Amino acid sequence: MEKNWWKEAVVYQIYPRSFMDSNGDGIGDIKGIISKLDYLKELGVDVVWLSPVYQSPNDDNGYDISDYRKIMDEFGTMDDWDEMLKEMHDRGIKLVMDLVVNHSSDEHAWFAESRQSKDNPYRDYYIWRPGKDGKEPNNWESVFSGSAWKYDEATDEYFLHLFSKKQPDLNWENPNLRNEIYEMMKFWLDKGIDGFRMDVINFISKEEGLPDADNPEGKPFAPGGQHFMNGPRIHEFLKEMNKEVLSHYDVMTVGEMPGVSPDEGILYTDAEENELNMVFQFEHMDLDTEPGKSKWHVKPLDLRDLKHSLSRWQKGMQGKGWNSLYWNNHDQPRIVSRFGDDRSYRVESAKMLATCLHMMQGTPYIYQGEEFGMTNVRFDSIQQYKDIETHNMYKERVIENKEDPAEVMNSIYIKGRDNARTPIQWDDSKNGGFTEGTPWIEVNPNYKEINAKAALEDSASIFHYYKNLINLRKNHEIIVYGSYELILEEDPEIFAFIREYNGEKLLVAANFSGNNPEFRLPEGFELKEPELLVANYEGQHEGTYEGFTMRPWEARVYKF
Ligand code: NOJ
Repeated sequence: MEKNWWKEAVVYQIYPRSFMDSNGDGIGDIKGIISKLDYLKELGVDVVWLSPVYQSPNDDNGYDISDYRKIMDEFGTMDDWDEMLKEMHDRGIKLVMDLVVNHSSDEHAWFAESRQSKDNPYRDYYIWRPGKDGKEPNNWESVFSGSAWKYDEATDEYFLHLFSKKQPDLNWENPNLRNEIYEMMKFWLDKGIDGFRMDVINFISKEEGLPDADNPEGKPFAPGGQHFMNGPRIHEFLKEMNKEVLSHYDVMTVGEMPGVSPDEGILYTDAEENELNMVFQFEHMDLDTEPGKSKWHVKPLDLRDLKHSLSRWQKGMQGKGWNSLYWNNHDQPRIVSRFGDDRSYRVESAKMLATCLHMMQGTPYIYQGEEFGMTNVRFDSIQQYKDIETHNMYKERVIENKEDPAEVMNSIYIKGRDNARTPIQWDDSKNGGFTEGTPWIEVNPNYKEINAKAALEDSASIFHYYKNLINLRKNHEIIVYGSYELILEEDPEIFAFIREYNGEKLLVAANFSGNNPEFRLPEGFELKEPELLVANYEGQHEGTYEGFTMRPWEARVYKF
């Protein structure tokens, strides 16, 4: 397998609005990020993925961009950004920017032109269609609830928006639009950035004719994913982007891709295909959702589903493509609350989850606050939530469909995106040290106990454990490049696997429960000279790699 820096890197995601506020307006900003770079250096991460900092009216917190070459006022200036990049590079940290080009903001100058008239030169930068029998052009549903079409009086047509009404989809069929995007990418790359994370990039090619989605339940709208996920021209577009732009720079690219399979993952990430380096896939994020239903219909996780899913990706990509590894991002609930136990075993389960993920093959991503075990939040009132997806869903289900508000709030507690977006809890001072002003979204009340300062001061903290995992990766090539084999496939509580590389082996055993299951190594493994490489309990370790009683949420990694 070819060695690359981005395979060996650990990435840290910053969601700027919630990271650190430097000027007391309650909103995180670029100067705030600069003030925390030593903290990231201490953690040992190699790359920062920065969620959007471009000019935006903030309908979807920056994922609705009105000028791709300007910095959002609330976050600072281009000079601040230049300084941030320099300060990162001075510390040996690379910067990956977010590229949001499936859609723009409706306040982008292109859209202002596009909606003027049907013969405006920018008309075809977006996807416009006449209505059908006085209704929307098709039955597609927006990811953020309701129809994916909005009627625009000026030209008596509808435009497509797979996300909010203020996020019109760009028309990638138009070569002029594609060229504008490539030029914009070069603008940032020439400023010295080290790559892009590409927002829902497998949505950019829509099926010709935009056919209706299957709708067996006869609902007003239906998810149209089959007609725009991994669409007919997607590989052609990405190959073109690679040829025109990416191939001229030594950068890392990761495509966010809902609804992708390992086989497709290979097509996107096989070096010979000349498209992207890795994808974010979502299979493991959907396992606590009722099959076929929206993410809000939650069900408990069956560990066997998680093992089988992640293993399918590990095996499927092995030697052909490249995985990214993540438990969290700004759209997902906090992992310690989701697959761990944030009450009785917060520290143990957070460390166990980190061990399991960081010992797999792929590039690990840490989402801000994960490194010291931040948890989900439970606000009493829907008004305390800020996320557009959450509000649209609440409106549809509680106000329009008259569903039980308590039940809907419960699904927000479990799945809402604001779980990940409460401000970073830096210390135990007011607002967790995030801002001197009033935070744009309330701080999780547990900041007095759970915060970065406390974690830094405690050598047994989750923070120091992550630091150790990152360090191990730097010193053991097997963690990066080793092959992967799941063992104990059907065990409902233990996730265990074996890695192998150049005659070395690793055994990873992780207990995903608060119980005491017996770990037994299956027969037939030639393992010699064990060394306990890392474990989430301190002190004496009873038993051996061949068999031991696992403590609640215990994780051990043996090296042979
Ligand atoms: C995926 C992003 O991660 C999410 O935050 C955003 O709302 C949508 N794409 C639309 O840009």
